[in-house]
Amino acid sequence: MNDYRIAAIPGDGIGNEVLPEGIRVLEAAGKRFGLSFTFDHFDWSCEHYAKHGRMMPEGGLDLIRKHHAIFLGAVGFPGVPDHVSLWGLLIPIRRDFNQYVNLRPCRVLQGMKSPLAGRGPDDIDFYVVRENVEGEYSEIGGRMFRGTEHETAMQESIFTRRGTDRVMRYAFELARKRAKKHVTSATKSNGIVHTMPFWDERFAAMKANYPDIRADQFHIDILTAHFVQHPDWFDVVVGSNLFGDILSDLGPAVAGSIGIAPSANINPEREFPSMFEPVHGSAPDIAGKGIANPIGQIWSGAMMLEHLGHKDAADAVVRAIEVALADPKARTRDLGGSANTVECGRIIAEAVATA
Ligand code: NAD
Ligand code: IPM
Ligand code: MN
Repeated sequence: MNDYRIAAIPGDGIGNEVLPEGIRVLEAAGKRFGLSFTFDHFDWSCEHYAKHGRMMPEGGLDLIRKHHAIFLGAVGFPGVPDHVSLWGLLIPIRRDFNQYVNLRPCRVLQGMKSPLAGRGPDDIDFYVVRENVEGEYSEIGGRMFRGTEHETAMQESIFTRRGTDRVMRYAFELARKRAKKHVTSATKSNGIVHTMPFWDERFAAMKANYPDIRADQFHIDILTAHFVQHPDWFDVVVGSNLFGDILSDLGPAVAGSIGIAPSANINPEREFPSMFEPVHGSAPDIAGKGIANPIGQIWSGAMMLEHLGHKDAADAVVRAIEVALADPKARTRDLGGSANTVECGRIIAEAVATA
């Protein structure tokens, strides 16, 4: 199949600046590989909230349920509390469309430099596989005794056997396709967090199904240190919603810049659309200046192409990013250059034709 209908949601802040560049590059890839994309634009955002009192209209998810994929910028901006904007848009998409895997590559692309001395593409090349619909991001909780000295905030962490097993299975299957064949579990089962001994039990049970895969685990605290000191130890790292969130900012930071990090919120059974978005947020500190790095969005577009079955096109986009990273004229400020968002996007779009 070569004709795709994509729901495009720029969202907030730099989402509005990087998403058009992601689209520009997808269209360039489509031209080369014979794919056509129809982008339906949805202005769901904090601005939408200011006008209508909701991040998206009632029944909004039904408007994008039948799309082949969702291409999103970022959600959240000062003026609307984050718990309102995120529970009003980003999190419902992940949950309602059962995008229970959040796949986040951490890799030093050619042309990038890791901030870790002496570390290059051979040392840092792993995936964080983040559980994306349950765990610590549960809706059950709230505040009591507001405004008193007894004020209390509570939240349940829900870990189900089904939810835990399926994300771990995804991690082992992914490792099976990779050279190192190694899965690491992020845990914290040293007696404190009640859900984690359960997570470890499920990990042990899952690993028994994969005798060909090396499996190990670290407590989340020392794991963050190992990401910095021994990034070469990792291949596929599976973590709960919160641990995976933290690791998937740290991983790209050790690989170079959060501005280039992509992510795929995947519904592996394909009953619903999957969503592709950069790892970074709306960056209010640089929003509106046209200087954001669009590579996280563009690489997310490559992940979308791969998900839709066009690995050749996805690989061409990643190669085009690498061509741009080697070109000082394409480097945005976070990468030490002075290119603006559109200049960087255009160079990558041009490079796709031949990369
Ligand atoms: P952030 O990722 O928006 O910004 C962190 C820092 O990284 C900032 O200094 C920013 O300028 C820089 N940065 C981020 N992306 C960049 C890019 N493409 N190019 C250059 N520099 C970039 O994180 P934050 O400040 O913690 O969050 C800001 C808002 O975004 C909050 O409302 C937060 O909830 C939201 N957020 C949304 C998502 C999402 O939609 N998936 C992810 C993270 C944060
Ligand atoms: C991410 C973000 C989101 C998350 C926030 C904005 C809710 O940090 O996509 O990593 O925690 O999942
Ligand atoms: Mn995050």
